[in-house]
Amino acid sequence: MIGAGLIGRKHLRKLAEHNDYELVGIADVNAEQVAAEQPGARVFADYRKLLDEARPEAVIIASPNQLHAENGIACARAGIHILLEKPVTDTLQSAAGLIAEVRKAGVRSLVGHHRRHHLQVKALKALLAQGRIGDVVGVSAIWATHKPADYFKVAPWRSQAGGGPILINLIHEVDFLRFAVGEIVAVEAMASNRQRGFAVEDTAAALIEFENGALGTFFLSDSAVTPWTMEQGLGESPEFPFSRQSSYRVMGRRGTLEFPTLNQWTQANDAQDWNKPIQSQANHAGSIDPYTAQLDHFRDVIRGAATSLQPVEDGARSLLVTLAIAEAATSGRRIDLRERYAALAT
Ligand SMILES: NC(=O)c1ccc[n+]([C@@H]2O[C@H](COP(=O)([O-])OP(=O)(O)OC[C@H]3O[C@@H](n4cnc5c(N)ncnc54)[C@H](O)[C@@H]3O)[C@@H](O)[C@H]2O)c1
Repeated sequence: MIGAGLIGRKHLRKLAEHNDYELVGIADVNAEQVAAEQPGARVFADYRKLLDEARPEAVIIASPNQLHAENGIACARAGIHILLEKPVTDTLQSAAGLIAEVRKAGVRSLVGHHRRHHLQVKALKALLAQGRIGDVVGVSAIWATHKPADYFKVAPWRSQAGGGPILINLIHEVDFLRFAVGEIVAVEAMASNRQRGFAVEDTAAALIEFENGALGTFFLSDSAVTPWTMEQGLGESPEFPFSRQSSYRVMGRRGTLEFPTLNQWTQANDAQDWNKPIQSQANHAGSIDPYTAQLDHFRDVIRGAATSLQPVEDGARSLLVTLAIAEAATSGRRIDLRERYAALAT
């Protein structure tokens, strides 16, 4: 483990419960405190020592965003597989450097967009693939909640450029949309700081074009009280009380699926007629701990038994889309992403 902060400690708890992993060491600049919290673990202040002396087969990188590329490149050069917390890196340039080194070394990578591992997400993908709602026409999505004043007081960077809900929160939703609905090929956006008056946005609206021709709208705010965030709808962690509400509507030629409830709206005999009644039907998916499921998947990737659900190349695409939405909100222009994807891959 490199970085035993908020999410690193969560990974350490999940690792301790997992039979297929053995913790050989932790690296954190805050070594003394981490050693006190993790009795029995070998703790290094310098992550390079961890790689040289503990010789792990794989590393979870949960350091600050700005260090992901440097940490990942060092692991790749040492032939170590990586599970890299999201976002893959802090810039597209550093992502390109990391991608090149991972490819050169032939190590396996998984980016920690943990939502991909939820059973509800897998069920949505399966229902769409089965054609339950026909071809997808569009998506209407919301992520809106009211962050408390303390959130900004304890970490003043959150009220400065780069600390707003586009880069912190929307990146998860962008990754989910790319994974569940399809690749995003163009974006437009508007942003506002009217509610809090910070240098960074508190609210934004984005238009999204998917490769499969579907269009989407996204409303994002950290200054509105609503039951519509993925965290509340999934009940994925105790910090965000469960609302049981869907924040996504995926609309197709033959019906609509709400997410995460998986409520489905269709007409009898597959009708496509605005004068016919529409009925809802429940779909069920179980609920699991996505961080444990992510570790299960990473184990299979390390062993060569599974293909990574999200190698660094794909994590960089979610970063690219999110950065483009922030840029579009500033420039007011539509941004076509296809050339940018191509530039990232070369
Ligand atoms: N997937 C998720 O649910 C999720 C949730 C929170 C954070 N994250 C991501 O995880 C990463 C860490 O976020 P966090 O909230 O845990 O941050 P954090 O600040 O709580 O933890 C970062 C840790 O890295 C350590 N660190 C700093 N410099 C280091 C270095 N040079 N070498 C080794 N360790 C170093 C710090 O001492 C700290 O313990 C970020 O990339 C963040 O985006 C993901």
